[in-house]
Amino acid sequence: MREAQVECIDDSYFDRALNPANEERNLIAVLEGLGRLPSSFDVASLLPLLQHSSVNIRLLAIKNIGKLRPTNHLPALIEFANNEKATLVRREAVSTIGRMRTEAAIPALVNFLHDPDAKVVLQATRALVTFKKQKQVEDAMLSLLDHPNELVQAAIKKELGEKNNGKDTTHSQSPDFLKNLFVQGDVREVLKSIPDESVHLTFTSPPYYNARDYTIYKSYDEYLEFLVSVFKEVHRITKEGRFFVLNTSPVIVPRMSRSHSSTRYLIPYDIHPRLTKIGWDFIEDIVWIKPDPSAKNRNGGFFQHRKPLGYKANSVSESVIVYRKHTDKLIDWNMRQYPEEIIEASKVQGDYEKTNVWKIAPSNDKVHPATFPKKLAARVIQFYSFKNDLIFDPFAGTGTVGQAALNSERYFLLAEQELSYIQRARELFEKQEFFGDIPLKMCSSNQIPHESENA
Ligand SMILES: C[S@@+](CC[C@H](N)C(=O)[O-])C[C@H]1O[C@@H](n2cnc3c(N)ncnc32)[C@H](O)[C@@H]1O
Repeated sequence: MREAQVECIDDSYFDRALNPANEERNLIAVLEGLGRLPSSFDVASLLPLLQHSSVNIRLLAIKNIGKLRPTNHLPALIEFANNEKATLVRREAVSTIGRMRTEAAIPALVNFLHDPDAKVVLQATRALVTFKKQKQVEDAMLSLLDHPNELVQAAIKKELGEKNNGKDTTHSQSPDFLKNLFVQGDVREVLKSIPDESVHLTFTSPPYYNARDYTIYKSYDEYLEFLVSVFKEVHRITKEGRFFVLNTSPVIVPRMSRSHSSTRYLIPYDIHPRLTKIGWDFIEDIVWIKPDPSAKNRNGGFFQHRKPLGYKANSVSESVIVYRKHTDKLIDWNMRQYPEEIIEASKVQGDYEKTNVWKIAPSNDKVHPATFPKKLAARVIQFYSFKNDLIFDPFAGTGTVGQAALNSERYFLLAEQELSYIQRARELFEKQEFFGDIPLKMCSSNQIPHESENA
């Protein structure tokens, strides 16, 4: 019902139509149809419905009351919110009280900071932000810093923390000495020479535990700890609010003999909680799907015997999980750090994949057993970085990330410990066009140029 219509209906209409004794479905129809309410609307006709036994009616009633700012009814609304048992309705009531933006509501809102429903606490926090300069409000908000709910903690930190939402003139920049640099060595050594907050995006596919013979780890735990030590450093060298995209998949360590079983490790799930603990916020779970024939056939036996429990799926998927370095700032802040012409030139053109299922054929290389396709790297780079950004791959293999970065006019920083893969990468880079005027630089981890020796 539009405002104009509401105004031409006489006052007694609402007393009749909103009478709590009416049938529930009629009341719901009227409440849902109220639309925008004129400021002259008498909230008193809605108040009796707050006592209705139906949660739906109480919810619709408080939502309609919330369209106005009936400060004269504040005490009644506070009492209602205090006694309301349904959290959804209570949340709406707190929101209505908050929207009045009146100091008279402060004591009630402070009380709601102790509500058992975190969403009510968030609603009260949101309302109190207007008054956060007042000591009592600031103290009450500070007391929530160790609230058990992580969203409440984050909201309080954001509101009370040092809020610097302005420009960071260095955000779109990266040190010249790192641009198009390929370092040979253990990435843990390489990382020691990389300054804090110098890369914009990391995309990598780490070694697959002991499934291939790059490195032999003593145990799965040791392997996970190794990855954590690297990704902690990746976190340090990543700029505020920027992304880390990790490609992994479950691996299988073959059985010792026919009298033993093989062991499967669900690497993406095991590494995930360790990453969030370091300060990587989870953003997207992309599933990279390869065509059926590219998967190793695991169900030959089952195909013959068809006995339950013996089923084995051919693995055509890998995980591509997107993380963001934790920050209180929104993605918009990151975008605002770039000049308009770079934003324009970095826009993702044409058709693009809209789902989290990315169908991309795998790649193969004559030297390296596990490269990922350039198309996958290109997509990640285009979605999660801007032109001229610095893209890092700590487990670079033949440098696929570097080649895809150049094609999209981004710089790269790569680390790889195996000389044979680096030689192969050199061959591939020879076929590659370099944008700008920064050539490929190769060195070992103890020869990384110093920050002051710019390219
Ligand atoms: C899955 S492969 C990455 C392949 C790469 N994405 C490509 O397209 O060529 C993992 C790489 O990590 C390298 N690696 C393993 N441990 C390393 C370490 N400690 N430091 C540097 N590189 C390491 C391996 O030699 C291997 O080339």
